[in-house]
Amino acid sequence: MSYETIYKNSISDPVDYWEKNAHLIDWFRFPQEILYRDEDDLYRWYRGGVLNTSYLALDVHIKNGKGDRIALIYDSPVTGTKKKFTYSEVHSAVERIAGMLTAFGVEKGDRVIIYMPMIPETAFAMLATARIGAIHSVVFGGFAANELALRIDDAKPKVLLTASGGIEVQRIVSYKPLVDESLKQATHQVENVVVFQREFLKADLLPGRDHDWASVVAKAQPTGYTEVMASDPLYIIYTSGTTGKPKGVVRENGGHAVAMYYSMKHVYGAQSEDVFWAASDYGWAVGHSYIVYGPLIYGCTSVIFEGKPVRTPDAGTFWRILEEYQVNIFFTAPTAFRAIRKEDPEGRLKVRYDTSALRHLFVAGERCDVSTLNWLRELLRVPVIDHWWQTESGWPMISQMTALGLYPVKPGSSGKPVAGYEFRIVNENGEECRENEEGVLLIKYPLPPGALPNLWNDTSRFKSSYLGSYPGYYFSGDGAYRDAEGYFFITGRIDDVINVAGHRLSTAEMEEVIASHRSVAECAVIGVFDELKGQVPIGLVVLKENESISEDEIESALITMIRNQIGPVASFKKALVVERLPKTRSGKILRNVMRAIADHKAYRPPSTIQDISVLPEIEALLNQKGIRKSPNG
Ligand code: COA
Ligand code: AMP
Repeated sequence: MSYETIYKNSISDPVDYWEKNAHLIDWFRFPQEILYRDEDDLYRWYRGGVLNTSYLALDVHIKNGKGDRIALIYDSPVTGTKKKFTYSEVHSAVERIAGMLTAFGVEKGDRVIIYMPMIPETAFAMLATARIGAIHSVVFGGFAANELALRIDDAKPKVLLTASGGIEVQRIVSYKPLVDESLKQATHQVENVVVFQREFLKADLLPGRDHDWASVVAKAQPTGYTEVMASDPLYIIYTSGTTGKPKGVVRENGGHAVAMYYSMKHVYGAQSEDVFWAASDYGWAVGHSYIVYGPLIYGCTSVIFEGKPVRTPDAGTFWRILEEYQVNIFFTAPTAFRAIRKEDPEGRLKVRYDTSALRHLFVAGERCDVSTLNWLRELLRVPVIDHWWQTESGWPMISQMTALGLYPVKPGSSGKPVAGYEFRIVNENGEECRENEEGVLLIKYPLPPGALPNLWNDTSRFKSSYLGSYPGYYFSGDGAYRDAEGYFFITGRIDDVINVAGHRLSTAEMEEVIASHRSVAECAVIGVFDELKGQVPIGLVVLKENESISEDEIESALITMIRNQIGPVASFKKALVVERLPKTRSGKILRNVMRAIADHKAYRPPSTIQDISVLPEIEALLNQKGIRKSPNG
């Protein structure tokens, strides 16, 4: 069947479509009802279905005689380590960690926080938590103690799993002091902390609360899987929203397993013998879906990479991995290739490697600029597929559906809707946009299986953030336009979320930190164009009257505060002192106007602006500081 037919079927009869696709996975009991509304009047998929996600990722393949197939390849240029694990080996490691969690009293529905680097044990821990029906929440290592504390207080985990440290190129990141600090800040008390000691760094353990991973796992009894309902949560992943408090996106077992299998097959066009590599981090949705669950549920080999695209040791690392493991499908963020291209514009390192096993390269996390896309096409000679999705969906929403045949790629576009996703683009008056007219991107509710059913313990925020503004539609937070041939072009976030090197961050959260400095009267943080990272945050700060602090002093104080309270991942490196900020008469700061000025985009100041003369002042300052650069391509 063609893409057009499949897409049409998925939209005209979603229940039938997702019932048929539910047969892709091995249920212990097939769902009795495909789509229903729960007690909060929210749509849910697969009522009555019984399964276990860890069973689907491991046991099914072993039962099918594939126990000796390589499930995971660990390649760590930062520690000089390479290891391969068969499905049977992962299974026994996971059974033991599941036993360790059970021994610490973790039961079905309990939460486990995982704050760990890119090592195989992190994947084992996720699968072990899923095995016993508990709920994991993986926290990205680049977040500071305060961010971890926020997540601890929201998820209320019984156990926290961590490692002594990670390596950021030359810098050793010591995780344990961050964990200790976060547990001091958090109100919720975690009973047990298990620390994976790495060879290059030994962490101090607090007797009674902290345990050495190797010893407790060695003592643990291997534990089988627990049956869970389709609607039981598999994990919570926190993501940045438009306030200081991150949103706990819930992923439930049933819809997720179907979506993972479905997307591996149709979107990525994977074969079960493929080697799949998502160069991302476990802490992001990409890492959950396409380092761990998608490839394993589909029976592929997945690569775990602990390193950077450059400097570990050079800009040829990605090409080496493609050759060494004969990677068939590769997925990462465009920013990674911009970093490589900056160091090796001619692709000289690439020619040393044979990457002919590669069939497709997928990029996401930000729009792939045309120049990088063309450079990659030329270098790799495979289709380069820009595709759009969010933490909330957990899998692609606008993309080529590779298995159904490729339509021509249009650089700058992420393609056409994936089956199951129906879009509308509306202007500021809520009217349907015309072809090529930019507006707000909305998705028909309910979203397909796998997309978030709710936020953790916050139904009212779920309803107001996503469903409140346009009844019957999910508000994506992105701007977009659609051309005459039905291709979508994502134009960027229209809210206070920014994407820095493929990492999603909240400017509102940074503003909260800056506003807490005693010299700051008011502030705004906006994302501005950056050649490498796509966007970086800058702070615009109005000082309190009679403040004697110098511009350099305040800037360096704010950089340190954001690094300590949000984390280095925020990449906050610039704060400018301004006399005043543009505002409406009611006092709302006009961040979008400042963003447009910074990015050389056309803008129309609202008629309610307090004083229009502030805009040239901001423009002059951004020019003077060399911040006002224009995105190309
Ligand atoms: N633990 C601790 N610190 C971390 C971290 C982690 N897991 N990940 C990043 N950081 C730190 C970095 O060391 C850096 O600190 P610094 O300011 O002291 O240099 C800071 O956070 C910013 O990190 P990053 O944005 O990654 O910048 P970078 O200069 O180290 O690398 C890229 C730039 C483009 C090479 C890198 O961001 C990259 O490979 N991105 C790919 C994006 C990706 O994986 N996206 C996921 C979705 S597909
Ligand atoms: P995250 O939740 O971290 O995956 O970030 C999701 C956001 O990243 C989206 O809302 C978009 O703003 C942006 N994004 C992801 N993929 C793309 C893409 N292919 N093109 C443009 N923007 C993208």
